[in-house]
Amino acid sequence: MILPPWPAVAPAHGDVVLRRFTEDDAALVRELSSDPYVPLISTVPAAATREQALDWIDRNQRRREDGVGFSFAVAVASTGRAVGQVGLWLAELPSGRASVGYLVAPGSRGRGFAGSALAAVTAFAWTVPGLHRVQLFVEPSNEASVRTARGAGYEPEGLLRSYREIGGRRRDMLIFGAVREG
Ligand SMILES: CC(C)(COP(=O)(O)OP(=O)(O)OC[C@H]1O[C@@H](n2cnc3c(N)ncnc32)[C@H](O)[C@@H]1OP(=O)(O)O)[C@@H](O)C(=O)NCCC(=O)NCCS
Repeated sequence: MILPPWPAVAPAHGDVVLRRFTEDDAALVRELSSDPYVPLISTVPAAATREQALDWIDRNQRRREDGVGFSFAVAVASTGRAVGQVGLWLAELPSGRASVGYLVAPGSRGRGFAGSALAAVTAFAWTVPGLHRVQLFVEPSNEASVRTARGAGYEPEGLLRSYREIGGRRRDMLIFGAVREG
């Protein structure tokens, strides 16, 4: 599938800007990989070596050409330092849908970076022709993520029972959605 080009102006909100990953972000990927939950719900390997982190960056740099979506580094606008990742996944674009996911490094949490990253990626999503709905999936116990979704204007739409396996156990997931206005 041919996806739209990278945005000419980097999506931004609050203190963050969304940019492409570079090799300089390997330390961020390694910090993400040190979190017990992140490797269970993402493609970040647990306890990544520098080489594994660089491989992950390489794969994420190619997500758009691969027709998968946009994998953005969440960076502090004032310094460019990466503090996380947000993905806009577009495999269902022919049906007018996308999903998003976000990760913030343990040492950078609680400072509003996830909320700003989700607001920025959602604004970018509405520039994608043919996209009408963005959805995300959150474990009910993941209070920080629930609050992130709500804060960015996503509506809870229901509980999907036994929706996916995480860490060897079937998990219920809340589904949140945002829809294009007008
Ligand atoms: C979920 C996650 C992305 C939040 O990142 P963050 O940058 O710390 O979030 P923010 O600082 O933007 O805070 C977002 C909201 O969560 C709240 N929050 C942050 N940490 C919290 C915590 N430990 N417990 C409860 N609420 C928390 C904030 O107060 C804020 O809510 P508010 O706007 O209503 O005050 C981060 O914890 C993370 O990467 N977790 C592991 C991966 C993950 O769960 N990803 C989401 C999968 S659905």
